[in-house]
Amino acid sequence: MQVTFCRLRTHQWCFILFNVILFHALLFGADFVEEYFLHSLPYIDMKVLEIKDKARKLNMEPLRSNLSKCYVLSQPEICKGKNIFLLSLIFSSPGNGTRRDLIRKTWGNVTSVQGHPILTLFALGMPVLVPTQKEIDKESHKNNDIIEGIFLDSSENQTLKIIAMTQWAVTFCPNALFILKVDEEMFVNLPSLVDYLLNLKEHLEDIYVGRVIHQVTPNRDPRSQEFVPLSEYPEKYYPDYCSGEAFIISQDVARMMYVVFKEVPIMVPADVFVGICAKSIGLIPIHSSRFSGKRHIRYNRCCYKFIFTSSETADAEMPLAWKEINDGKECTLFETYYGLISCKLLTYIDSFKHFHMDTIKNNVMYLAD
Ligand SMILES: *[C@@H]1O[C@H](CO)[C@@H](O)[C@H](O)[C@H]1NC(C)=O
Ligand SMILES: *[C@@H]1O[C@H](CO)[C@@H](O)[C@H](O)[C@H]1NC(C)=O
Ligand SMILES: *[C@@H]1O[C@H](CO)[C@@H](O)[C@H](O)[C@H]1NC(C)=O
Ligand SMILES: *[C@@H]1O[C@H](CO)[C@@H](O)[C@H](O)[C@H]1NC(C)=O
Repeated sequence: MQVTFCRLRTHQWCFILFNVILFHALLFGADFVEEYFLHSLPYIDMKVLEIKDKARKLNMEPLRSNLSKCYVLSQPEICKGKNIFLLSLIFSSPGNGTRRDLIRKTWGNVTSVQGHPILTLFALGMPVLVPTQKEIDKESHKNNDIIEGIFLDSSENQTLKIIAMTQWAVTFCPNALFILKVDEEMFVNLPSLVDYLLNLKEHLEDIYVGRVIHQVTPNRDPRSQEFVPLSEYPEKYYPDYCSGEAFIISQDVARMMYVVFKEVPIMVPADVFVGICAKSIGLIPIHSSRFSGKRHIRYNRCCYKFIFTSSETADAEMPLAWKEINDGKECTLFETYYGLISCKLLTYIDSFKHFHMDTIKNNVMYLAD
């Protein structure tokens, strides 16, 4: 009797263990596989070596005064003589001064992590209206943290914005080791991000890291706004690239990108553009599932202390999240584990809801047609 009971218990334990493993595999498996196994091999040929050489020899100093004419606001002296570990460029829309103020008061107020200096600037294009420009001038005068390129800030011009801002970083901030490109709707945990970068310190070069997107096909629908003609990009898939909401490149990569800009098709989405540039310099994007991509991660203190970014952060959530992750209270391993399970499950449920709502909306539109 006793023996059967024990055996039965062993079976039950096995069953429970199996379920626990299955649960974790389903929840974290994809991240794990992507992060550790889906690495294609970098390639280096004569062309890549030539580009690397050109990038190394690039001397932007004499071009500074000419290039500052490409910007309405160029902050040419802001990096001078400073030691900068991470330059965080927040891509913001000209009319969104309130959002910029909120970021300045929250996650953008970090000036150093573990003694490594961080510089946070806002990247803008030009607004349509003159009064908006006046407000930007005032805001810039007060905060000294705005770079504004000479192009209209529209959704179609985002690739232009990436080019202008990379050129800015290479010309006016060559002393920044890493450059973070991030959109204004994001929440960023700079301390955990810097900690991650410090652990990469074996190699400070050839870094292009974010949430990697695989095997996306170009939009071939001529009626669509994002239409990419075959003449512009003939291949079936885009190369792997980092989702555009937030990614990091090292300074040498920015310089190499600057060298190849003119050879890369410009009529593709901005993040894909960066991916194509990276491919043409033989670079493989590094994936980290701690970048959220487009998804909003449901708030949980210990989860937010671990992840790097969350998208679509509402104005009201920002100060709360910021205050709590800075409370100085550490999370134990178990709390972090529990937090990750919780925010991952809830985020998953949210995305399912979104998907469901979209399907319903599409069906309604279909019926209305
Ligand atoms: C700066 O621009 C002017 C006019 O566009 C050009 O003549 C000059 O050669 C440029 N200087 C440098 C250093 O490129
Ligand atoms: C930003 O951080 C500094 C210290 O680094 C602090 O003195 C200041 O009050 C902070 N500003 C806001 C608006 O939180
Ligand atoms: C992009 O910027 C250029 C330069 O300002 C402007 O002429 C063009 O109209 C903009 N394109 C769009 C689609 O807004
Ligand atoms: C400002 O940015 C926030 C966050 O991305 C967005 O929700 C809001 O619509 C923007 N407002 C304007 C006026 O662009």
